[in-house]
Amino acid sequence: MNTREVILTGDTPTGQLHIGHYVGSVRRRIELQETHDCYFLLANLHAYTTRSEYPDEIHADTLEIVRDYLAMGIDPNKAAITLQSETPAIAELTFLFAMLLPFNRVMRNPTLKEEIKVKDLGENYSFGFPLYAVGQTADILAFRAHAVPVGEDQIPHIELTREVARRFNKLYCGIDENVEDDDPEMIEKGVFPIPKADVGKVGRLIGTDGINKMSKSLDNVILITDTPKRVKKKIGQIYTGRQSMTDPGDPESSLMQYVDTFIADKNRALELKDKYVRGDNIGDGHIKVEIAEAISNLLEPMQERRAEYENDDDTIIDIIRDGTRRANEQTEKTLALAKEASGLGFFDRTITF
Ligand code: TRP
Repeated sequence: MNTREVILTGDTPTGQLHIGHYVGSVRRRIELQETHDCYFLLANLHAYTTRSEYPDEIHADTLEIVRDYLAMGIDPNKAAITLQSETPAIAELTFLFAMLLPFNRVMRNPTLKEEIKVKDLGENYSFGFPLYAVGQTADILAFRAHAVPVGEDQIPHIELTREVARRFNKLYCGIDENVEDDDPEMIEKGVFPIPKADVGKVGRLIGTDGINKMSKSLDNVILITDTPKRVKKKIGQIYTGRQSMTDPGDPESSLMQYVDTFIADKNRALELKDKYVRGDNIGDGHIKVEIAEAISNLLEPMQERRAEYENDDDTIIDIIRDGTRRANEQTEKTLALAKEASGLGFFDRTITF
């Protein structure tokens, strides 16, 4: 029997991935693909929540993410790269889960509230916008995932997912109200494991403005495809507020986060940090040059790998088809179990690719 734990995580296609995605989540996925059953979801339907007028862009962005995945080291033979819109169990579970959640509970999700604010949606968002939070619970539970590697901002979605899983198990699997998440009864009788968020060491990388989280919409990102020259320029823009080489620097500054995250030689990182904090004759400019070099060294092999797939959509689509086929094997099983438990089981079906 297959006893490996299941990992599910995903990305909404909004353009190319950046180094914040890499250190926040993708780097962790590359470790996990060696030891776990990994599924990486292209959440292309979620992109329609705010960009339904741009279907061609969403289509192209979906393929771009796969190029970035491959560039960063995700191996499609180890992990299944899967397309949300061709994993029908997700849509079906979304409908069912929407019935298990009070509307007000969904709207209390702080990540949704924050998005409404940041994207300035006011009251003009689609019905599908809050629905995507319910959809994300189905993304995860359709795979019966045990863990979800994500950045910090996604924790409220995982919390909602855990609530849905508990609710379903207690409502439809005969599990008593007081049973804890990791009680053997929950695991044996429940359809869904209660998934955990797996937040990487760098849950939130500051962008090159030195202030906000790295995010495409804030134009403060370093892309996987950025040349050393661009990287140097962007790192040069990080605002630190430090005035001279002898000013004691703040160990919590964005610059020091970059040192911790990207200077691969840990002794050198400690040395830089020590000098910076003491104001021992070290300028921000010098530190920035070292950071920029370290980032470019990290990106170089990624850019080489990415170039192999540059104009080859067919290969990318084959990879997605294969991953989606494997994903459907898992999600169709889950759906059958969930239907059986919840009174929706009437007869079997098969999906083929
Ligand atoms: N909402 C996530 C983001 O914007 C992407 C996502 C969709 C996801 N489905 C998921 C992440 C399931 C983890 C698990 O980054």
